[in-house]
Amino acid sequence: MSAPLCSLTLTLPDETATEALARQFAPLVTGATGLAPGGRIHLQGELGAGKTAFTRALLRECGIQGRIKSPSYALLESYKVSNLYFYHFDFYRFNDSREWLDAGFRDLLRDDAVVLIEWPERAEGVLPPPDMQISLVYADPGRVVTLTAFTARGQTWLNAIAPPPQMPCPPTGPAADA
Ligand SMILES: Nc1ncnc2c1ncn2[C@@H]1O[C@H](COP(=O)(O)OP(=O)(O)OP(=O)(O)O)[C@@H](O)[C@H]1O
Ligand SMILES: [Mg+2]
Repeated sequence: MSAPLCSLTLTLPDETATEALARQFAPLVTGATGLAPGGRIHLQGELGAGKTAFTRALLRECGIQGRIKSPSYALLESYKVSNLYFYHFDFYRFNDSREWLDAGFRDLLRDDAVVLIEWPERAEGVLPPPDMQISLVYADPGRVVTLTAFTARGQTWLNAIAPPPQMPCPPTGPAADA
């Protein structure tokens, strides 16, 4: 994977904190803040760390209604809200990268779709770097999460999420180039 650009570590004492963090991503990925809609997020962590809980809260906040199933068996669940596509992958049971390429899943990893991937390490080598990696680790109490940006889009997200006056990434965008 390409080099991480910057990162932020936060504590999530309970599930409500995980969901609150996830909800902060909704305006960033849907374009509500003026950013281009879309983005790729990799979710890492042991079984039960909270990857699906995070994804569900994010998808719900983006306006997805009805049941949000874990893609543990299906590999992929997809959604669409007002012309924006959402793809939720879980590669826990993934073991053949040819299967992936043959099925055309790779075509779904577009910059203008919201792509959330659990267990990305199981498909290493066939996935492009994410905009952000979210790593959840068991702690007492709750979880510790590390958010790592790999692209300029990820950097922008991270600065939007960091509590002021913390700004973990160098500024991005036109102002940064001036
Ligand atoms: N910050 C937190 N503190 C304590 N419990 C949490 C926290 N965030 C989520 N949880 C709980 O942890 C569990 C996470 O389950 P979830 O299915 O999201 O895990 P997962 O990482 O997707 O696992 P899998 O690898 O099996 O897909 C849920 O029971 C949820 O309530
Ligand atoms: Mg899961």
